[in-house]
Amino acid sequence: MIRSVKGTFDILPDAKNPWEAQPAWEKVYCAAQEVLERAGVGEITPPVFEHAEVFTKSVGESADIVVQKEMYTLTDAGGRTLALRPEFTGSVLRAYIEHGMHTRPTPVKLWSRGPVFRAERQPQRGRFRQFHQVNCEILGLDNPLVDAEAITLLYQVLKACGLKEIVVKLGSVGDPGDLSRYNSYLREQLGPIQDKLSETSQTRLRLNPMRVLDSKDEGDQKLIAGLKRPLELISDEAKHHLEGVQRFLRDWEVPFEVDPAIVRGLDYYRRTAFEVHHRGIGAQSALCGGGRYDGLVERLGGPVTPGIGWAFGVERVMDAMLEDGVSFSGSAQPDLFLVPMDDDAVAEVARIATVLRATFAVQHAYSKRNPGKGLRDAERSGAHFAALRGDRERDRGVYTLKNLASGEQLEVPETDLALVLTAQLEALGRAQTDLVSG
Ligand code: HAM
Repeated sequence: MIRSVKGTFDILPDAKNPWEAQPAWEKVYCAAQEVLERAGVGEITPPVFEHAEVFTKSVGESADIVVQKEMYTLTDAGGRTLALRPEFTGSVLRAYIEHGMHTRPTPVKLWSRGPVFRAERQPQRGRFRQFHQVNCEILGLDNPLVDAEAITLLYQVLKACGLKEIVVKLGSVGDPGDLSRYNSYLREQLGPIQDKLSETSQTRLRLNPMRVLDSKDEGDQKLIAGLKRPLELISDEAKHHLEGVQRFLRDWEVPFEVDPAIVRGLDYYRRTAFEVHHRGIGAQSALCGGGRYDGLVERLGGPVTPGIGWAFGVERVMDAMLEDGVSFSGSAQPDLFLVPMDDDAVAEVARIATVLRATFAVQHAYSKRNPGKGLRDAERSGAHFAALRGDRERDRGVYTLKNLASGEQLEVPETDLALVLTAQLEALGRAQTDLVSG
């Protein structure tokens, strides 16, 4: 049997894991779309692959994605090196430059959704080789107000997904001068004891020392416990900027925690950096990462354009939703299931299903069923009502309509089926509302 590639998965009409079930995807994407588009964020869908240099330039030579060779690259027939996107930011900024979007009213706000590819060494729950992101970028302003808006939109999307146990961790990696000062400080402190660090941290110390702080290795954590955090060494301007962001967030009642140790896995961040974590989902608790990346548009060949953005991993958000008890039941529950009880009825129910589907969700059996089996099929489909058709019904020009929850049954003329079904579904809706409101 040919199986799907390790670290990838199929999204089925329904499944136990929410990220493998279609209704959950609609829930998250609808929440994102509603919140973001109300704030004037337009959707952009770039291609899934780009010239590889888009990403080597965006994420940076010392980012894990490049260092650990996590990018899926290929050479096409023309000898061009292409890459499946390991993130959206590079693609979105490439498109922003290519389409001259800097001439549009500032800020330009863009969001995207779709698959992202990283060749993870050890794929596991929450760490896939093909995963999905909802990504948002706000380009053109360097005002802390925009940072606060980006974080607020993220918070609102996650809340709209039904998440409760989330924590926004806010920090700053300072300006490029601060970054290199902090990196020199770490080299000074850790250089003499580098042999004691894990292999990954030794590489990071060489290429991007700040990333050593992100090590999951317990030995590393002990060695770095007493060191100064990036926030302690940033410039007054960067501190001032961060204070501005905090003031807006407090004013808008968006909860956050300042995390002096926040460092991000991508090289482009300047000043504001943030993550959202969930208290319940363990090792892969980072649902979202983001920050300011002033200078990146220029690095990709565009005009001077500050920017800030974020992306969340949809699968991780779904895992957190499961943890927070969010229901993923889809809209797939049919209104009506038609049961043909003889051969002639098979074509009859199929025809009436085609008509009724203009208004209702309708399924039917494809061969004759005795009433007991037919009703069991109807129940299994999750339908509210079953309608049975056999020779007795044919003679009288009716269907036998059965409420599958109450067992009530009535005879309905064929021509009135849509009308009666509408009334019955409305009554059912009312009864359910009464039940919920007590
Ligand atoms: P990132 O932190 O690399 O940032 O990824 C964002 C989110 O994607 C993570 O917080 C996580 O939820 C999810 N994620 C990352 N790797 C995996 C994986 N292997 N499996 C499942 N989920 C994963 C970025 O991608 C930046 N481009 C975000 C950004 C946009 N910054 C500014 N603008």
